[in-house]
Order: sequence, then C-alpha cells, then structure tokens
Amino acid sequence: MYSTSAIGNTNGETAGNRMFRYEVSGLRANGVSQTPVRQSGSVFFTVPYNRMVAEMRRITRLGGKILSITPVGEGAAQPAASAMASSSNAADSAVASSNGAPAKGAAKAKKKKPGADVPSNIYKPKNPYIGKCMSNDSLVGEGGSGIVQHLTFDISEGDLEYVEGQSIGIIAPGEDDRGRAHKVRLYSIASTRHGDNVDDKTVSLCVRQLEYDDPDTGEHVYGTCSTHLCGLKPGDDVAITGPVGKEMLLPDDTKANIIMLGTGTGIAPFRAFLWRMFKENNPGYKFDGLAWLFFGIPYSANILYKDDLEKMQAENPDNMRLTYAISREQKTESGGKMYIQERIKEAADELWGLIQKPETHLYMCGLRGMEAGVDEGMTAAAGKFGVDWKEYRRQLKKEHRWHVEVY
Ligand SMILES: Cc1cc2nc3c(=O)[nH]c(=O)nc-3n(C[C@H](O)[C@H](O)[C@H](O)COP(=O)(O)OP(=O)(O)OC[C@H]3O[C@@H](n4cnc5c(N)ncnc54)[C@H](O)[C@@H]3O)c2cc1C
Ligand SMILES: NC(=O)c1ccc[n+]([C@@H]2O[C@H](COP(=O)([O-])OP(=O)(O)OC[C@H]3O[C@@H](n4cnc5c(N)ncnc54)[C@H](OP(=O)(O)O)[C@@H]3O)[C@@H](O)[C@H]2O)c1
Repeated sequence: MYSTSAIGNTNGETAGNRMFRYEVSGLRANGVSQTPVRQSGSVFFTVPYNRMVAEMRRITRLGGKILSITPVGEGAAQPAASAMASSSNAADSAVASSNGAPAKGAAKAKKKKPGADVPSNIYKPKNPYIGKCMSNDSLVGEGGSGIVQHLTFDISEGDLEYVEGQSIGIIAPGEDDRGRAHKVRLYSIASTRHGDNVDDKTVSLCVRQLEYDDPDTGEHVYGTCSTHLCGLKPGDDVAITGPVGKEMLLPDDTKANIIMLGTGTGIAPFRAFLWRMFKENNPGYKFDGLAWLFFGIPYSANILYKDDLEKMQAENPDNMRLTYAISREQKTESGGKMYIQERIKEAADELWGLIQKPETHLYMCGLRGMEAGVDEGMTAAAGKFGVDWKEYRRQLKKEHRWHVEVY
C-alpha cells in the first residue's frame, strides 16, 4: 500500500482546512485537481475538507473508484463503500458533520473556529455559476399576504457545494439604472447540503417578492432580484455566487438543543436544519437533541412549509417543538399583536432552563425589526431569573451559541 512519506508533502495541513488522503483506482485520466501519486495500481492524493464533495464528483466522472479516505495525520481509513454512497453523504460519513467535526477515530483534531472548514466563495460575482431553475412553487396559501416562493436550482454541472446555514448570492440579469450589472443579493439556503432530492445536485431558496409603495412618489415598486427569482420558470438560467456565511452553522454536537427564532422567509435556514435533522438519514449526523422552532408569520396561510413542519413535529414529538406567532390572527393577553417575542415570554421558564445548558444554541433569522423584539422577550425571560439578558447574550456570543442573521 502507500507509504506516508510518498504523499506526506503533496499537500500538507493548510490553515483552517483539514486534509484527507484519497486512495483511488480506475481513473481514466489524470484529471483530478491534486497531483496524484501512483503506487500499486492506486493513485493517492490529498484533498482539503471543503473540496471533498467536488473531488468525489470529479473522481466519479473520470470513472474512478474511491478505495479509502483517511484524515491526514490521523486514524483509520473510511471504507470506500460508505464514501461512494453519494458524494456528500461520503463527506457526511467521513467527516461526521457540517462544520468539520472530527472523523471517527480522529478524536484529537485541533480545536478550530466554527466554520473553518465550510465551503466559501467557490463562485465569485465576476464568474458566477449558471444554474437552471428546476421548480418554482408558491408557499402562500389562499388569504395569505404577498408572494413567497420555494425555488430549486440544478447545480449538478459545477463545483458549487454548501452546508446548512449558508447563503448564496444571486445576480439578476440586466443592468441597474446607472447601466451597471446588478449587484449580488444574498439568500439563505433552504435545503440541506444534499439538496431537496438528496442527490447533491440542487440548492433551494425561499424568496419573498419585495414590493412596497415608494414613500416619495407613491409608485408601487417591485424588488429587482426577488422579482427575477419569483418569476423564474423551469429551465431558466440563474446566476449564482458563493456560498457565503459562517454565522448560522449547526453545531457538530448531535445532542445539542437548537432554538430557532424565525419570521417570514427567515425560515429558510431552519428548513435546512430541520430537514437534515429529521428528513434525511445521514450516517454521520443523527440528531438527538431538541429542535424548537418559534415562527412568526402574519396569517395562517403564510405558514411556510406548514404541512412538512407539522408532520415532522408529529413524528418526532420528543425532539421537535413548533410554536407559531400569527401576528394578524392571534392576540396577546393584553390584546396586542402576537409577535414572536410574546411567545418567548410565554415560554420563559422552559426556554431559560434550556439556554443555560452549554449544549443549547439560539438562532434568529428574518426581519431586521425582530431583533429588538427578541431582545425584549429575552430580557423579560432572563429578568424572571434575575439575569441581565444583554450581558448574558454577550457571553452566549463568545461561546458561539448566539447566531443572528437579519435583513
Ligand atoms: C444574509 C441574507 C440572507 C437573506 N435571505 C433571504 C431569504 O432567504 N429570502 C428572501 O426573500 N430574502 C432574503 N434576503 C433579502 C435579499 O437579499 C434581498 O434584499 C431582497 O430579496 C430584496 O432584493 P430586491 O433586489 O428584490 O430588492 P431591491 O430592488 O434591491 O430593493 C430593495 C430596496 O428597496 C427599498 N425598500 C425596500 N422596502 C421598502 C419600503 N417598504 N419602503 C421604501 N423603500 C423600500 C430599499 O432601498 C431597499 O434597499 C437576505 C438578505 C441577506 C443579507
Ligand atoms: N407588500 C406585500 O404584499 C407584503 C407581503 C408580505 C410581506 N410584506 C412585508 O415584507 C416584510 C417581510 O416579509 P417576510 O416574508 O420576510 O415576512 P412576513 O411573512 O411578513 O412575516 C414577518 C412576521 O414578523 C412580524 N413582525 C413584524 N415586525 C416585527 C417585530 N418588530 N418583531 C417581531 N415580529 C415582527 C410580522 O408581523 P406584522 O406584519 O403583522 O406586523 C409577521 O408576522 C415585512 O415588512 C412585510 O410587511 C409585504
């Protein structure tokens, strides 16, 4: 078999990137991106974590068979069978989970900043990936407000890969009113790294068409990029950049408690989390903590992904909770609008018990305006126990347990 010295210097440990050594047979051509080292009919090369999925796809395209994947400088090789089950599933089983948790048998991995290993900026605005729209479905029921769409794009031809909690950029076609190409707009990814078809070939978004009355002119205005996205038809091209974002990543710990505070399209990353936890069957990630979603929406008909969420909750009653704040249908005790912060206050005792546990993470995503509301709810909840929320929040942030993405 191989000798470590033969590959030792091919690609050493790079900062922020754990490396994996691949043993591959049957490659039709020397088309992989790392320099292979031939021994005993196999080739060996070293791949950083964030290139694993792309490299596996390339190997498959070139007719190669992965015989083993070994963390460089660490323990046992992964069996090729599990590595080949699907390219990202291979990364799931070889690497255990999203943010670079040590592979099995690699217990002494160096402690790194969360997100050090996640894919980042594979496609830049100057050279975006051109995907194809596969589907574009309405998420708002009758009587609901506005247009919100679930979109799925085919990304099978390129190297785009991502993990739950990241965003992609979209570039609308055409030019702005100064004759320049439109700027990138970010959208939270709503699918797991494996995509809605669990084949590693798609990425999905949850997009609201922005529309408002211009306060100066009174003109009814539609947002540029959100209108482009909401109007896409199957087969249409879509220019994609990224992925970006390390703020909203799931922790490696499968026993963590994940508290999600979302308004409107802020559900997108939480859909990805929940699908990974309860819909997929990943060998390297079996969720066994508590996932609690607080979801703020204007009307019942605006409960995005309602059927899926409720089915998932019914099937996983010990591991998932679902709390709606339906602002224009439900009222607080004092007759006010039911916002997410009111639900936080109602659940103060239980929530506070959870927040104090080191394995609990809180995520907030959606309207920028919710931030102050959530703070108000948390201040009341913490205040019941004599705790200063702002101080506590600083500590949670330091511990990488307080995750915020508002827009
Ligand atoms: C990290 C991140 C993740 C995001 N994720 C999502 C997501 O998952 N889903 C989603 O739908 N969106 C998401 N967004 C928002 C998204 O990036 C776009 O900002 C949004 O779609 C609007 O872009 P647009 O091109 O349609 O609007 P634009 O044509 O860019 O118009 C936006 C501009 O219109 C003006 N404007 C907007 N509202 C009003 C108003 N009420 N009154 C007066 N002027 C106004 C403001 O000047 C604003 O800058 C995310 C944003 C970020 C930063
Ligand atoms: N023009 C349209 O047709 C149209 C349609 C949908 C949404 N929108 C606007 O688009 C924006 C966001 O849309 P979206 O799809 O992401 O979300 P969305 O579906 O509108 O849901 C956002 C939810 O958050 C609530 N909310 C508002 N302010 C809050 C605060 N300070 N704290 C906590 N909760 C708060 C909203 O309540 P309330 O909205 O009841 O106050 C609503 O229940 C909003 O500004 C919304 O008004 C416009």
